Amino acid sequence: MNIGFLGCGNIAQAMIVGLLDSGLKPSSITVLTRNQKKKKFYEKNSIKRLAVSKANLAKFDFIFLCVKPADAKDAIEGSTINWGNTPLISVVAGISSQKLKKFANSEKVIRIMPTTSAEFGKSITAIYMAERTKKTNKKINSSPK
Ligand SMILES: NC(=O)c1ccc[n+]([C@@H]2O[C@H](COP(=O)([O-])OP(=O)(O)OC[C@H]3O[C@@H](n4cnc5c(N)ncnc54)[C@H](OP(=O)(O)O)[C@@H]3O)[C@@H](O)[C@H]2O)c1
Repeated sequence: MNIGFLGCGNIAQAMIVGLLDSGLKPSSITVLTRNQKKKKFYEKNSIKRLAVSKANLAKFDFIFLCVKPADAKDAIEGSTINWGNTPLISVVAGISSQKLKKFANSEKVIRIMPTTSAEFGKSITAIYMAERTKKTNKKINSSPK
């Protein structure tokens, strides 16, 4: 299993810590970032970091989009990720599935709205996926472990 995080700010870090605490191996997580600003966090949690520009070098089961709404379009379009093969799970507030699908040129889009309580495994998380997405993404519904 390889789970990608595009953007590694507050919510991504909370989700990563929660996933690791729940038993996911650090080797299953790769953060895709445009700089090394959060280096201490990657090292402390033993997770991999890959430059966004080299994202096509790894294969991901799915990628969480964890950037600010204003950065979503650039982050999706500016990466080298093959979104057609890589389901996108967006935590971004206010950017519709329709827009995300257009930016990624893919139907494989899911929206979730977690809270930073994910760090403690306590996030109440809203999940939305269109009927058509459900049919093509059955695998995403299973636990990441
Ligand atoms: N915080 C919450 O409680 C919460 C809860 C639910 C949902 N959300 C949603 O989560 C999203 C992120 O919120 P946040 O609080 O985690 O923001 P944040 O702390 O500012 O983190 C955003 C991250 O995105 C990175 N980024 C921006 N553009 C990028 C690009 N083109 N490629 C790669 N990385 C890029 C930034 O990296 P740099 O360091 O390089 O700038 C930064 O690390 C928002 O859309 C928000 O709606 C947040």
